[in-house]
Amino acid sequence: MDFNRDDDTIIQRVQAMSKRAAESKQADLYFYNQPISELRGGASVLVNGREMGMYASYSYLGLIGHPRINQAAKQAVDRYGTGTHGVRLLAGSLEIHQALEETIAAFKKAEAAITYSSGYATNLSVISTLLGRNDYVISDKLNHASIVDGCMLSGAKFLRFQHNDMSALESRLRQIPDGSTRLVVSDAVFSMDGDLIDFPGVVELCRKYHAWLMIDEAHSVGVLGKTGRGIEEHFGMEDTIDIKMGTLSKTIPSVGGYIAGRKDIIDYLRHSSRAYIFSAALPPAQAAAAKAAFEVILDEPWRVEKLRVNSRQFIDGLKKRGFNTLNTETAIVPVLCGEDETAYRITREAQHRDVFVLPVVSPAVPPELARLRATVTAAHEPQEIEKAMNVIEEAGKIVGII
Ligand SMILES: Cc1ncc(COP(=O)(O)O)c(C=O)c1O
Repeated sequence: MDFNRDDDTIIQRVQAMSKRAAESKQADLYFYNQPISELRGGASVLVNGREMGMYASYSYLGLIGHPRINQAAKQAVDRYGTGTHGVRLLAGSLEIHQALEETIAAFKKAEAAITYSSGYATNLSVISTLLGRNDYVISDKLNHASIVDGCMLSGAKFLRFQHNDMSALESRLRQIPDGSTRLVVSDAVFSMDGDLIDFPGVVELCRKYHAWLMIDEAHSVGVLGKTGRGIEEHFGMEDTIDIKMGTLSKTIPSVGGYIAGRKDIIDYLRHSSRAYIFSAALPPAQAAAAKAAFEVILDEPWRVEKLRVNSRQFIDGLKKRGFNTLNTETAIVPVLCGEDETAYRITREAQHRDVFVLPVVSPAVPPELARLRATVTAAHEPQEIEKAMNVIEEAGKIVGII
């Protein structure tokens, strides 16, 4: 069959994307999908034969390559091999999964935990398992795509509120008929802006309107709270989140996602959530690495503190140099550029000077709000951060945003 007709919508989408990518490549403005050849120490990588300072990593505590975590992964391969015997509900469960889930539950101070093979699958599957057609879900407008997709898949009535606006959230909650089940869901730290949800405000409203609260801690575990336990610890509000979601792919240098919470809910998810029942279990090496990483966070608390100091240096230094970094308070530091093309150009200038940053453009962020989404980690040293900021400053001047 000939699919190359101009009126075929699949072909139109493919061609539009290929054209956009080809034009960027031709102008040396394409920076996605670049493979890293190897790690060079904690905060540098080899890319295209060049050693670059890594300022786009989610490994907030610098745990990728940690010897104890690597060792745990190797031992798991020796004990279990590289795969599992299937899905968790059937033959795919291993003792290391159980041990990981107990570790997560203890870390998050919850009764129990369940893991999935990605954070994306966790949000998709859990929101759509908990909610049905007659329920309501209310989501911050800047929530991660996996939350949005989970809300849509659930079939529940999907309401969104202006980013971090508690009066908008309250008016959404008021809209819901009495007696209906309602879930409020939000990122703890917003993945494109680095700011925090008004957590005390959300908790108060959930209590007032009898709403369940689900918080995605992808970018707050290891980042917020004195011991890195996340947003509840940060605000001194233990045991306020009903559904504690997180990923094993950011601060935790592995892959996967989890939910921690009440035992009955976790048991329900084990028997009802499709990503657990119909998708292969986490590989043993990844489960063991994740378990070891939670232990390292608690055993090496200096990392959490160092990340906090580094984030402050990076945010303050970029602001002082004249950049707009929005309201970030964390390791995710947006450097606002405006047009997509400006974000691509500043990336090129920075990467040509061996600072690995990446652009985020629409539709991932609103049009005209394209940015560098720079990150800093506990693996960086103060003088490295200073050097990287000088490079970003030089690049910013070349493209004319400062
Ligand atoms: C807030 C948030 N939630 C969920 C995810 C998905 O997690 P994963 O990459 O582990 O699938 C991400 C990933 O970027 C994220 O930023």
